[in-house]
Amino acid sequence: MASIPEIFETMAYGPAPEGAAPAHAWLDQHGRSFGLFIGGTWTAAKGESFETFNPATAKPLARVRQAGAAEVDRAVRAARAAQPQWWALGGHGRARYLYALARQVQKHSRLFAVLESLDNGKPIRESRDIDIPLVARHFYHHAGWAQLMSRELPGREPVGVIGQIIPWNFPLLMLAWKIAPALAMGNTVVLKPAEFTSLTALCFAELCQEIGLPAGVVNIITGDGRTGEALVTHPDVDKIAFTGSTDVGRLIRTATAGSGKKLSLELGGKSPFIVFPDADLDSVVEGVVDAIWFNQGQVCCAGSRILVQEGVAERLVAKLKARMETLRVGDPLDKAVDMGAIIAPVQLQKIQDLVQRGRDEGAVPWQPSWSCPREGWFFPPTLFTEVAPAATIAQVEIFGPVVVLMTFRTPVEAVELANNTRYGLAASVWTENINLALDVAPQLKAGTVWINCTNVFDAASGFGGYRESGFGREGGREGLREYVRWAERRGDGGTQGGRGAEAPGRRARRSNGRPKRAASRRSGSPAPLRPRAPASLPPIDRTPKLYIGGAQARPDSGYSLPVLDVDGRQVGEVGRGNRKDVRNAVEAARKASGWARATAHARAQVLYYLAENLAARGEEFGRRIAALSGDAPGAEREVALAIERIYTYAALADKYDGLVHHTPYRNVTLAMPEPVGVLGLVCPESPSLLGFVSLVLPAIAMGNTVVAVPSTSAPLLATDFYQVLDTSDVPAGVVNIVTGAQSELAPVLAAHDDVDGIWYFGSAEGGDAEVERLSAGNMKRTWVEHGHPRDWSDPVRGEGEEFLEQATQVKNIWVPYGE
Ligand code: NAI
Repeated sequence: MASIPEIFETMAYGPAPEGAAPAHAWLDQHGRSFGLFIGGTWTAAKGESFETFNPATAKPLARVRQAGAAEVDRAVRAARAAQPQWWALGGHGRARYLYALARQVQKHSRLFAVLESLDNGKPIRESRDIDIPLVARHFYHHAGWAQLMSRELPGREPVGVIGQIIPWNFPLLMLAWKIAPALAMGNTVVLKPAEFTSLTALCFAELCQEIGLPAGVVNIITGDGRTGEALVTHPDVDKIAFTGSTDVGRLIRTATAGSGKKLSLELGGKSPFIVFPDADLDSVVEGVVDAIWFNQGQVCCAGSRILVQEGVAERLVAKLKARMETLRVGDPLDKAVDMGAIIAPVQLQKIQDLVQRGRDEGAVPWQPSWSCPREGWFFPPTLFTEVAPAATIAQVEIFGPVVVLMTFRTPVEAVELANNTRYGLAASVWTENINLALDVAPQLKAGTVWINCTNVFDAASGFGGYRESGFGREGGREGLREYVRWAERRGDGGTQGGRGAEAPGRRARRSNGRPKRAASRRSGSPAPLRPRAPASLPPIDRTPKLYIGGAQARPDSGYSLPVLDVDGRQVGEVGRGNRKDVRNAVEAARKASGWARATAHARAQVLYYLAENLAARGEEFGRRIAALSGDAPGAEREVALAIERIYTYAALADKYDGLVHHTPYRNVTLAMPEPVGVLGLVCPESPSLLGFVSLVLPAIAMGNTVVAVPSTSAPLLATDFYQVLDTSDVPAGVVNIVTGAQSELAPVLAAHDDVDGIWYFGSAEGGDAEVERLSAGNMKRTWVEHGHPRDWSDPVRGEGEEFLEQATQVKNIWVPYGE
């Protein structure tokens, strides 16, 4: 027995275990064997199944089912059957159910926390104080959005049936992030938890029963990747929401390409943790603990790369090592434990292999002197120094308690190092200089930037990636967009579904899951009117070149394509762009990145000037359109609309601004819309001028630079347009135009790794599918028409919010205040 002075000397912790009895009782009550939750009832636990383990003891906890394709189908059918009534219930009705779920989660919070720690291995301190409270908060917050949907999201309707696939690192929290917004917006869901951690999802299914949630609104099916795949490829699912590895995200992107399914992906990361020399190093050390040892580093946004200014690196490393020595790894149910167990042997092996790789590549590891428990799957906190920026451990997501440390000299170098990754999920910036922090934050390619804090989350703030960390947001107003779409105009404004309303997900879907192509012409433009105006036909004069980097460029191929009028007569020729031209155009667009840094006011001025110059040449453009379409009045209308549209985006350039989210901490959370980067725009076949303007203008208004592929059959309007660009102070490279066959050029843009997003309104049948499939290379954002006709003259469908949403991605910057 230690003496009192000895106890004071060592300050050793005694065990402080949280009782696991209620969780074990719950498991026993179910015979430690679970069926699937489909259509409001439980299936028998018979059939293929597997064990789920306690990572801290390596002992099995229960058996869960491996759902097969037939069961996935039943779950999707149940969700489909329930969806119209769920939507028809109205926002208030849904709000009451979501509120009931929030209350119920709170009432059962202890059971959930213990069950989560047993199944996942995370410390009870985290499951009790972070995961479960955030789950409840998510349901409360989204109860509010359900209530407010018709007021706050007019014109939008649910997507339909949502397939949701979640990982094992935050099992119940990821469930809440997926289910709460989906239900709030009137969708129904089929959710598949990760195979390592199904238990809290099954317990949640019971809550749904308890509160009397209508059958089929939430369906929970367990199983591994095969079950996930069956859900992803099911033809009657309208959207897939996925969180997990980038590799599986890429598979899902490819599998859903061209299906018309909406998709959001929250993927991996290698997030920088940037320490400037004036940062409070003691806070920084605690920040690192939260950044990389929270949940054993099995966090998609873990701050796994410390970038520290070289003048303070040595001090920071010393402090970090001292702190690591005091961290406690052990029984997750012990309330005084900092780190629990690694999810599974396969993950432990992956961490061990990467650590060995780090050593092999010459980096220097450091671990505390104490050793981890021998029972179960544990790994000690590990710090690597002497790491080269290109080293494997500096680039690959380790997903374990391993952090690498690199140094920089200047803020510019810090930003360069921070962005030297294919990922873009999160970043933290540590400095006492708020000006520096707010200067650096927008330069970081990351969906979330935490200033002097890290790993803070809230339902009111969006979370999601840039680049290969995926697309779409969860949380905040921006997260709702993932679960709604614009209503087809049916006269009811598309707001809360009346009882007679068509089930949204059913809209125009083919039996194979692809939406039907419109029987009519793709564009909603009016049919050509006669008589036409032969007198105004311009002569066949010249072959316009491509427009790249602010200059006319001959197509690499040297070939041209004829341009025909409505009667099939040749009225001109355009250059036939190829792969090389696209590459040059992308390079020019990338170089023009200064456009994103111009003030919104400056961009607006350029756009107004553009409108003015188009107006000055309006008649000429009208004659050109009339010559091609044979519709003089229609041509005049189109030019007038195009000018007006440019005015609209000039007006919106400095008005589509961000939000300050009310997150319940002492901070402001700035939700800033940022340009996506370089956008490839495949324009509609017709109306050729208005279609071109409708895509290019919102994109550049928001600070993107673009490579536009105009209409294949009527590209002359776009090539005429570059003369307008030339006279309007649009900086070189902001708008690049590559004419040619869309069917040849769109795939090149979609596969290009330096294009950040692609909009496809092109004409080639199947082009939408190919664009989505090829985009998987660098996980670029895609916006494809999927055959729904769009009336480009319509002030809601042809311009405005939807375009600006697609032209931007929201970055949330957390700025704490107070002591
Ligand atoms: P994973 O991406 O394979 O699993 C995530 C979810 O996707 C699970 O529910 C799984 O059953 C499902 N899934 C797997 N294959 C699928 C397919 N073909 N179609 C549809 N669903 C499928 O992640 P895993 O294997 O659990 O972990 C591997 C690595 O992924 C980790 O070492 C870590 O680096 C990373 N990871 C990243 C996460 C993040 O949030 N960024 C979360 C989990 C893992």
